[in-house]
Amino acid sequence: MLPLRLRCSDDGLLHAAGSEIAGSEIAGSEIVGSEIAGSEIVWPEIVRDAAGAGRTLALKPCFEKILKVAPMPYHSWQFTHAITRRPPTSICNGLRAVDQGNPDFDRITADHRDYVAALRNAGMTVVELAPLEEFPDCCFVEDAALCLPQGAIVLRPGAVTRLGEARAMAPHLADVFTQVEAISGPGFVEGGDILVTEREILVGRSARTDAAGIAELAQIAGAWGHRVREVITPPGVLHFKTDCSLLDHQTILATPRLNASGCFADYTVIETAAGEEACANAIRVNEVVIMPAGFPKTAEILIARGYRVVTVNNTECAKVDGGMSCLSLRFTPTK
Ligand code: GLY
Repeated sequence: MLPLRLRCSDDGLLHAAGSEIAGSEIAGSEIVGSEIAGSEIVWPEIVRDAAGAGRTLALKPCFEKILKVAPMPYHSWQFTHAITRRPPTSICNGLRAVDQGNPDFDRITADHRDYVAALRNAGMTVVELAPLEEFPDCCFVEDAALCLPQGAIVLRPGAVTRLGEARAMAPHLADVFTQVEAISGPGFVEGGDILVTEREILVGRSARTDAAGIAELAQIAGAWGHRVREVITPPGVLHFKTDCSLLDHQTILATPRLNASGCFADYTVIETAAGEEACANAIRVNEVVIMPAGFPKTAEILIARGYRVVTVNNTECAKVDGGMSCLSLRFTPTK
């Protein structure tokens, strides 16, 4: 059984998050035993009863008080934490498909600060890691790991210069997850090719992610109850998520070229505006969608559809094929 994660808000209510507590399942349960990590309370053991939603819970033995529990359904865009890594000066050697000049280091550093601020404003605790000069692409932390509600999977980047980034990320994942698995190979998977939706994990085969890597990922994530669906990243596109993002439980932002592949037939798709395909890589984080600045038509479409949009300059990251999702690992710790 997953540990139940509860967050105590200022109003004294406990909010529960996690796939274990969908609907009113947890409401009215008696919770026994506790560990406190910051404002997060992880309850390793749950004794269920049949009571309905809104019941008060007796918390013991560490908490002698009685608090009300407000069940909060799990959504795949809700997170409490993020890991980022500041850009190294070696980012001027970062991989890129087309050379548009090197990123300006001061500008990319300032943009990165704005990005971290946007995550914090979205309610996340951000762990900022130091740059690793030996890995020019190390600020694109998403390619090194996949974080799921149950645990983390250390990935195996298909770019040989990036393999060591995954190894460097492993101890930081072990700090926050009780379960950390790893893709051992021979296949490859990069996080930029993985889109986690409410009901499945889509993994795009690409120049960086192959069938063997996807099969191993499917095995690990499958043991945690996830369904993995292999899809195809359009030819010439770096990552699957270069061309799409999750906006909510049913809605995807996608480029027309990726949408045309039919891989989102079961979803509602909002297409990027003509000429603004480069903003398809955005992130839904709690109540906001963080997207690159400079794509006003798509931003307007999203705002008109009711999304709260926050923009961050991405011109320098874009020179080394980086975007909003690549710059963070987003998750809720299990320890
Ligand atoms: N520069 C990001 C990548 O190619 O992996």
